[in-house]
Amino acid sequence: MNAETLVIRRPDDWHVHLRDGAMLAAVTPHTARQFARAIVMPNLKPPVTTAAAAAAYRDRIRAAVPAGVTFEPLMTCYLVDHIDPDELVRGFAEGIFTAAKLYPAHATTNSAAGVTDVRHIYPALEAMQRVGMPFLIHGEVTDHDVDIFDREAVFIERTLQHVVADFPALKIVFEHITTRDAVQFVEGAGPLIAATITPHHLAINRSAMFEGGIRPHLYCLPVAKREVHRLALRAAAVSGSPKFFLGTDSAPHPVGDKESDCGCAGIYNAPFAIESYAKTFDEERALDRLEGFASLFGPQFYGLPLNEDRITLVRGETIVPARLALAGTDVVPFHGGQTLGWRFVG
Ligand code: DOR
Ligand code: ZN
Repeated sequence: MNAETLVIRRPDDWHVHLRDGAMLAAVTPHTARQFARAIVMPNLKPPVTTAAAAAAYRDRIRAAVPAGVTFEPLMTCYLVDHIDPDELVRGFAEGIFTAAKLYPAHATTNSAAGVTDVRHIYPALEAMQRVGMPFLIHGEVTDHDVDIFDREAVFIERTLQHVVADFPALKIVFEHITTRDAVQFVEGAGPLIAATITPHHLAINRSAMFEGGIRPHLYCLPVAKREVHRLALRAAAVSGSPKFFLGTDSAPHPVGDKESDCGCAGIYNAPFAIESYAKTFDEERALDRLEGFASLFGPQFYGLPLNEDRITLVRGETIVPARLALAGTDVVPFHGGQTLGWRFVG
């Protein structure tokens, strides 16, 4: 493999928002074009809290995959206070649920039905630990006295370290980490604790949200942090440690919902996700580590087979459109209006 062409096993996206309805139909082809499988977030309205709802949602996703494209949606259950552990275990045993997701109530988009106190789901965590079902965490406290830039670090102290201690055999993915604190926590924890990292948290720091004016399309949750944190995330992603793997957190919102007096959190990166990661790994002189991060460590952690087919990236221009017309609206993609130095061939 020379430095101008990169051939790697087809990657998977271990964290994505595919939405529903017309938006689902519009965005699923973007994810399915690059990724073989994806862990699909359950924060629909209403949230996906039962195996039956997840199976129906999976059918709708499969119907949105273009003909001739192979793509496997991996479904998650949205955890609510006092959720029935038997529903989780049954859905997992039937191959409907791959994992369950903790949204602390009011932490982010469509999280109002989330968990108000992690102790309310301790029976569920007990059952998940027993059957080997991964626990996916949006790791932010929601207390208003905690500064928004500190919410991830405080979550580690107030919640995550206790969960890890109380459930030592539970598989946990600390989703879309944004801080050096999270990198250090994951590195110091046992092999059952891993983390996903988004393309945008590798590419931007919090100042980018205010460059020349307010940039709503760079606002997501957890919000981007200081440069020192971005550098820690980049070092973790390219380290070759199997604890860190790809999860885009691609989260489309109509342009009007972003450019608003109360703009939604979420960055839509699915159309050019692998090119964005390739840019980071190239800048870090670590293109040889991209395959592990994108295509090996995720399936290894989840206990799933590696993908057998390959994708090719070549050094060359990818012009990212400033806007995409999707589902009767416009969506501004991540890197919109920029040119990336890698091209996804297929
Ligand atoms: O920025 C975000 N957008 N963070 C989340 O946790 C949810 C997501 C969404 O659903 O829009
Ligand atoms: Zn997300």
